Amino acid sequence: MLAQYDKAAVAKRFTQQAFAYADHAQVQQISARYLLDLLQDGLASQQITASNAHFETLLDLGCGPGVNSLELADLARHYLGVDIAAGMVEAAQEQSLASESLRQRIANSTVSFLQADMEQLPLGNDSVAGLYSNLAVQWSNQPQQLLHELYRVLAPGGMAWISTVLNNSLQPFADLRRDYLSQDGVNAQPTLLQWQAWLQQAGFSVRYIEERRETSWFTNLKELVRSISRIGADQQRTHAAPQLSSREWLSHQHSYELFRTELGLPLHYQLGYFVIQK
Ligand SMILES: C[S@@+](CC[C@H](N)C(=O)[O-])C[C@H]1O[C@@H](n2cnc3c(N)ncnc32)[C@H](O)[C@@H]1O
Repeated sequence: MLAQYDKAAVAKRFTQQAFAYADHAQVQQISARYLLDLLQDGLASQQITASNAHFETLLDLGCGPGVNSLELADLARHYLGVDIAAGMVEAAQEQSLASESLRQRIANSTVSFLQADMEQLPLGNDSVAGLYSNLAVQWSNQPQQLLHELYRVLAPGGMAWISTVLNNSLQPFADLRRDYLSQDGVNAQPTLLQWQAWLQQAGFSVRYIEERRETSWFTNLKELVRSISRIGADQQRTHAAPQLSSREWLSHQHSYELFRTELGLPLHYQLGYFVIQK
């Protein structure tokens, strides 16, 4: 069973990182592009009928600093970005105001942002035609309950495009850390098959499912660890992230060097992609 996140701490941490986040979120950007392409392909194919090719309301769950808002807003009559971190909502609003088209749409309330917990959305039943969520649902304390909540707010026939972090992520960092600590250095995550079962139990039809490995490359370990921290991935479920002594850190650096390639030091993420329908 997965342990629980302290949601106030998660929100605080993402608020602190909100304005620096985009510079460190290479994997998030790769994943967002892949998920947006799946969404565009879905719109172009038979998955979606002409009547809802442009969503009435498109929910961007865990929208972060609004990196995907412009592209998503183009697909919807009403775009709604939701995030638990006040700083992320603020950053999303600020960066949207820099875009002429979004500024106008914020003014006429067809683009909006809301600070809310994805597990308790202040939205009505069947109120959302489409849902996009890039690398946010891994922060759920109760994925099964979250999926019931998403099922509740999606309109019948509504589609969702979701990506998440799976087990065996942040390698080889996670395994090396485990060698030095008496506990895991990173959080356990569900497998792709666990998510698939939960999606089906919640009532969704699973239209597409895929596991992919994405890698970020770093010139040194300090930069690599900083990137994990900047995107909040070092937030522990039940305890503070443990610190290594300077001797352990040197040894850790030495071990990590064995993984260096001409691209630098790797950090692998296992990501799950789901296209589902209510
Ligand atoms: C890794 S970021 C992804 C941001 C954005 N979707 C992107 O593609 O860059 C995860 C986001 O999920 C948000 N988040 C975490 N827990 C949440 C919750 N319970 N409800 C809503 N948002 C949450 C965080 O504040 C953060 O902005």
